Order: sequence, then structure tokens, then C-alpha cells
Amino acid sequence: MESFSDKGYLLRKSFFTAEESAEMTQAFEDMAKDVDLRHKIKIVPYARIKNESVKQKVTDMIQNINQNYGLNLNPAPDAAVFSWTDPSVPCGGNHYEDWQQDGGSYYTAAGNHYNYLNIYVHVYKEDPADANLGVVPFDVLRKKNHAAYIQAVGGGATSWKELKNHEGDVKALVNPEAKMICEDLWTGQRTEYDFDMGEIQTTHLLDVGDALILRGDMIHCQQPFKTKRIALSFRVECDRSLVSSSHYLNVRTTYVNTYESSLKMYANAWAFMKTHKKEHSATYGQIKLWFGTKLTLRDQAKFYSYRLLFYTYVYMRRYLVFA
Ligand SMILES: [Fe+2]
Repeated sequence: MESFSDKGYLLRKSFFTAEESAEMTQAFEDMAKDVDLRHKIKIVPYARIKNESVKQKVTDMIQNINQNYGLNLNPAPDAAVFSWTDPSVPCGGNHYEDWQQDGGSYYTAAGNHYNYLNIYVHVYKEDPADANLGVVPFDVLRKKNHAAYIQAVGGGATSWKELKNHEGDVKALVNPEAKMICEDLWTGQRTEYDFDMGEIQTTHLLDVGDALILRGDMIHCQQPFKTKRIALSFRVECDRSLVSSSHYLNVRTTYVNTYESSLKMYANAWAFMKTHKKEHSATYGQIKLWFGTKLTLRDQAKFYSYRLLFYTYVYMRRYLVFA
């Protein structure tokens, strides 16, 4: 049997029935009236998914992963994310994607991408051979390059740039034989490798209802598209992750430049941690609860001064060290 632990993912053909996929497509169509399709993704709370058999399959899968592969995931997803391809809608550039590990979920979900799951299902598809997702199986990566494997396990916010696609702006720094540079968008560290992800990737041809069950640290890349495709992915976090307050404080602002709205969330998370606790860590679940709890007047004063401190520190660092 294929192993989630070895590869970092499972393939489940016909995970959803045709009816379930049609219903999820309809849920997207209803929502799409209010969505700017150029944004390519729409995140909705998991509670918006009403179909009971779909929800049962999702929670059963989470339980299966926790029991058989030793993960510590929450029993149900936090969010459902619709993403789509539509050749008639210009998507604001960025048609080409590098191989990557996601950044937003990595920062937000406490830097714990090992305990993070993405149940990714194609619910509408015109051509199974089109608009798929390439993945780099961890067992293949380990055999190819052990250092890259070690760098990738549990990680996030990385971009693996193949030099053949970046002749102009990416230059090998040390090794003239380098074929790829990994940029860690959190630390700014760059590492050279002498192979391409394209050599070791796998692209499964997903039909309607087929699913990839992906650990959060999977290296992946959207493949080209010519047709319409709607994917629904359920994002499962781990509320028991322990987060140190420096996790949010040390976010690299050159990365956040692209995601300025996330900085406010990190500022709030840090200020909540400082307001509520003298210790330097809290569980991710606790932090989420603080976001929904009203502060006393006295704590509000603390919260806002901590938040000011956060911004001062982060922007000072940006101007002084460009990091
Ligand atoms: Fe991604």
C-alpha cells in the first residue's frame, strides 16, 4: 500500500461521487456570483459546507491519517478553499509558478506544516489531462538529494526556482553546475541544488471526484491549463501546536511585503500572546480563541501598546537590515 509517511501524500480516486462533486460545484457557482474570479482562490469557513456525506468522508480521512500516520490534526477542517482555472479570465499575471511550499498556511498555522493537511479534490473538470497539480514525492526527493529532503520536511514558505526558467533574475551564486535555487522566504536563505524538481515530480491526472491528500509540506506546482477546472481543498490545522511568540515577531517583512494583510494578523497574534501570558509560548488553538474573545479595558490598553511595539520592531528591522 502507498504510504503517506513516505510520500507525503495519498491519491484517492473517486473520493467524491459524481453527485457530491456536482453539489460542491454548485456551491462554488452560487458563491462565484460575488467573487472576483481573477483572484483564483476563495476561502470559506468549513461550516459553509452543508453536504453530510462529503463532511463524513473528510472527517473519516482525517481520523485515518491521525491513526495510521501519527499526525495530530484537528478532527475537522477549519476552512474550505475553492480554486479554479478559467482560460477566459485573465488572472493578473503569475501564470508561471515555481515549485513551492505554501507560505501563508505555514506562518499562520504556527510553522507546523507536518501537522497540516490539505484534502484537495477536483469537483469540476473538462479534461482529466489538464489543469493538474504536480507534486514531489518525499521518498523520491530523499533518494535524489538528501539535503533537499531534510530542508523540505515539515517546511513551508519556500520557492524552488529552476534556473532554466529564471535565466535573467536568478544566478547561481557558488556552484556553476547548479540547476535550481531554493529560496526560503522566511529566513531569506538561498540554497543551490544540482537537479530540477521537474526531473522527479509526479503529476496525477485527476478526474472529477479524485483527491490528493497532501501533507502541508508537500512541494507542488500548478500545471498548465487550457480548460475550466474547479478544485475544493479542505485545510486541516493542528490546534495543539505550540507557538513561540518569536514565531510571529520574526516574520520576514520582505516576504510580508507581498502579503501585507497577513502582517496585521501576526501583529494581533503576538500582542494577544503578550497581553495574556507572561510565558513566551501558547498553543495555536489558544491563540485562535483569543481572536474571538473580548478584552477588558485594561487588557485593551496592553494589547494596543504591544501591537505598536510589534510594528515598531518589525519596521525598524526592515529599514535597518532589509529583512
Ligand atoms: Fe501553493
